[in-house]
Amino acid sequence: MYEVYPRSFADSDGDGDGDLEGLRQRLPYLAELGVDGIWIAPWYPSPMADGGYDVSDFCGIHPMFGTLDDADAVVREAHQLGLKVIIDIVPNHTSDQHPWFQAALAAGPGSPERGRYLFRDGRGESGEVPPNNWISCFGGHGWTRVVEGDGRPGQWYQHSFASEQPDLNWANEAVLAAFDDIIRFWLDRGVDGLRVDAAPALAKAAGLPDADYGGDLRFLTLEWIGNPHWDVDDVHSIFRRWRALGDAYEGDRVFVAEAVVSSAERLSHYLRSDELHSAFNFQYMKSAWDAGVLRDVVEETLAALAPVGAPATWVLTSHDEVRPVTRYGRRTTSSAHFADGEGETSDRALGTRRARAAAMLMLALPGGAYIYQGEELGLPQVDDLPAIVLQDPVFKRSGGAVRGRDGCRVPLPWSGAQTPFGFSPGGARPWLPQPVEWAELTVEAESADPDSMLALYRNALRLRHDVGELRADEIAWREAPDGVLDFDRGGGARCVVNISGSAIELDPEYTVLLSSVPLEGEALPPDATAWLVRRA
Ligand code: GLC
Repeated sequence: MYEVYPRSFADSDGDGDGDLEGLRQRLPYLAELGVDGIWIAPWYPSPMADGGYDVSDFCGIHPMFGTLDDADAVVREAHQLGLKVIIDIVPNHTSDQHPWFQAALAAGPGSPERGRYLFRDGRGESGEVPPNNWISCFGGHGWTRVVEGDGRPGQWYQHSFASEQPDLNWANEAVLAAFDDIIRFWLDRGVDGLRVDAAPALAKAAGLPDADYGGDLRFLTLEWIGNPHWDVDDVHSIFRRWRALGDAYEGDRVFVAEAVVSSAERLSHYLRSDELHSAFNFQYMKSAWDAGVLRDVVEETLAALAPVGAPATWVLTSHDEVRPVTRYGRRTTSSAHFADGEGETSDRALGTRRARAAAMLMLALPGGAYIYQGEELGLPQVDDLPAIVLQDPVFKRSGGAVRGRDGCRVPLPWSGAQTPFGFSPGGARPWLPQPVEWAELTVEAESADPDSMLALYRNALRLRHDVGELRADEIAWREAPDGVLDFDRGGGARCVVNISGSAIELDPEYTVLLSSVPLEGEALPPDATAWLVRRA
């Protein structure tokens, strides 16, 4: 699957923002790349306080991106090209501009309108202390106080993310019923599935008790166990309801969870046979470039998912993460939190070399894989965007201490030697400025270079289709020296990843199908991957 972040994919009308017509025009590029489908990040009307994850109408299209007709055209033409289409659904919260929230503000305490959200009175003498100690993912308190109709400070509302994203109350039947309709609205239009944003946030512990965060007040959902506002068991009844709804449709419709939880075992609960179909593998995505760590996470993932019969997924990055060529060139190659490693220098050549090896490892594992737009071009994180253009709420909420995620959202370079590199017609200025060095990283430039990252992704995806063994369910580990991963796929195919400090000899009984670096002789150098097949 290929993640499209629509504002940064391709701009057809020359306003510097990507749009759905731009996406439609470029669908053949994705078919040629060899992916099976696309996941489109939110395309809904939104004030863009969080890049579109602050939705003000769940059944519309942001005018910046186009119209419902444009969305239909994307789905139709993607299907004609054999591509599935998954869209984002953002059920945990709405925009503060959503009519439901505006009605809740107007209706006042105790009203059914407020009952759709988590409004509470504050603590302290005059309600000036937030109702509990919950924090926001983007820094600071997880509560914001409103001004009531009489002009005085009043109740507080809870928000797991920015204050412009009030959390919905999923214990309220009206919310459940409204989302049934929203899901049907899109499935009726022919989308193949939904990616469920922030799935573990939906249910909250009864009574909204204080959280026990320990010393570090960061949103570390990969570590949280028993947290009252994350991965609360009640969440699963919501997904059972959705599964039944989706199963009533003809054809294959899937739900993909975005669920950053404390273990592969906790994740597997979301993937029981009557819940969601698959989930992003954050444990894998956030792992360090280290053979032992990677092998452990692969084994844990497969072991945890086997009992529920769900396929694994493998993913290196997304619109929320540091781009792999930058992350793997830093000292800190793991990332428990999106601020980890920010500001560290990165060795671009090393990072690119490792990202190539990591891509081949990801694409050799059993299950699905997710590629984030620009990953196939080896785009680096743009970590010197001027502060004035930064839009991620993380930047503002941290008082400028954390730059946030804009650096992985810079518009794609398609062609030509100068910005906007074919992203916009007529040379319009993209919403985030592209580095001039990206002239070497355009689709056009990389298509002409057999050693480019794009060529590697195209070759790897083609082989994944053509060599059936690479798609087998089984994986069998071979004994390997320290720092080396070596496993068989489907009997005759094999993947070797060298994360040790020195070159290793490849087995002469095998021939190389594809390698992440040019090979000299029979040796695989450090930070490289090779796919092999047994000699006939
Ligand atoms: C998910 C999205 C992220 C967004 C957040 C709040 O993690 O991927 O971009 O900020 O949810 O909706």
